[in-house]
Amino acid sequence: MRTILTGIRSNSVLTLGNYLGALLPMVRLANQHSADSRVNIFVPDLHSIISEVDGNLRDNTLRTLKYWLAAGLEVNENVHIYRQSYVPAHSELCWILNCVATMGETSRMIQYKEKSKGQESCNVGIFDYPILMAADILLYDAEFIPLGEDQFQHIELARDLAMRFNKRFGEIFVVPAKTADQVKFMGMENALRIRDLTNPEKKMSKSTAAENSKIMLDDEPAQAAKKIMGATTDSEGVIRFDMVKQPGVSNLLTIEAMVTNTPLQDVISTWAGETRYGELKKKVASSVSQMLELFQARLNEVTDEQVLALLDEGERYANEVANKKLFEAQKAFNLR
Ligand code: TRP
Repeated sequence: MRTILTGIRSNSVLTLGNYLGALLPMVRLANQHSADSRVNIFVPDLHSIISEVDGNLRDNTLRTLKYWLAAGLEVNENVHIYRQSYVPAHSELCWILNCVATMGETSRMIQYKEKSKGQESCNVGIFDYPILMAADILLYDAEFIPLGEDQFQHIELARDLAMRFNKRFGEIFVVPAKTADQVKFMGMENALRIRDLTNPEKKMSKSTAAENSKIMLDDEPAQAAKKIMGATTDSEGVIRFDMVKQPGVSNLLTIEAMVTNTPLQDVISTWAGETRYGELKKKVASSVSQMLELFQARLNEVTDEQVLALLDEGERYANEVANKKLFEAQKAFNLR
C-alpha cells in the first residue's frame, strides 16, 4: 500500500486562504485515497520552534488537528494522526541524514535563504529544517507529499538524500515521487490562491498587520462579511476576471468559487456583464460568513478527548513504523 503524508505547522491561527487553499484540498485528497492508501497526517511541531510561536504551541497543535476534523477528514484504519515531537525517530533520523546531506545543497534552499536574510544571527534549526523534513517523509516510505509550491525544493532534497543513502547502503528508503508527479497527484495545475483584501496584488497572509486585509478562520462571521464589503476593488466598473487590471474583483470571484466549491469559470460566467461591485461583495460576504458559521459550528463539536484518542492510536502506530525504518538507517552506519 502506498503512503501519502502531509503536515501543517501550527504556529498561529489559519487564514481563510490557508484553509481553502491548503487544508481543505488536503482533506479532500485524503478522503479520496484513504480506502487504498495509508494517509499520515502530522503536525511538525519541532519545525514550529525555528521561529516565534503565537500562543501556546501544544494548544495550537490540538487546535490544528481539530481543524482537520472540522474540515471533514474521515478517519479510518488507514488514516493516522500524530505529532512530530512524540515520535523521537524523526529527530534521530534527522541527525543521521545531517551526516549525508552537504552544506552546499542545504545552503541552496530558498526558504533558508529568505528566512536568514538580513538576520543578525540565524538559528541552526532554520538551516536544518529541510533535513528534518526529509526524515519526516523518509521514515514512512511516503510517495506523495501534498504541499504548496514553496516546499517543492524541500521534497527534491528529500529525494536526493534518499537516492544517495540507497546508493551507498542498499534500498532502505522509498524515493518520493518527482515534483511533476506530485503536482499531478494533487491536481494542483489549476490551484487557486486567495489575495490580500486591501492589497490584492499580494497573497493573503497571516503575517500582514492590517486586520482588514485578511480573514482568519476564527473571525466572527459578521466581522468577516464586513471585511469583504470593505475589500479594495477598482474603477473599471465592470465585473471581469483580470488579475492584472482588476485584482480585487478577481479575488472576490476567486473567493466565491473556493468558498462555494464551484468551478471558477462558472462563477465568472454568472457575473459576466454585471457592473455593480456592491452586489458581488454582498454575495461573497454572505458565502464567506455562511462557510465560517458552518465550520465554526463543526469545530465546536470536536472535543479534546476525541483528538487525544486519535493521537494515542496514531502515535503508537507512527512510533512502530518509524522505529523500524530508523533501525535500518542505524544499521547502515553500524550504530546497531
Ligand atoms: N514544511 C512544511 C510547511 O511549511 C511543513 C512540513 C514539515 C511538512 N515536515 C513536513 C510537510 C513533511 C510535509 C511533510 O508547510
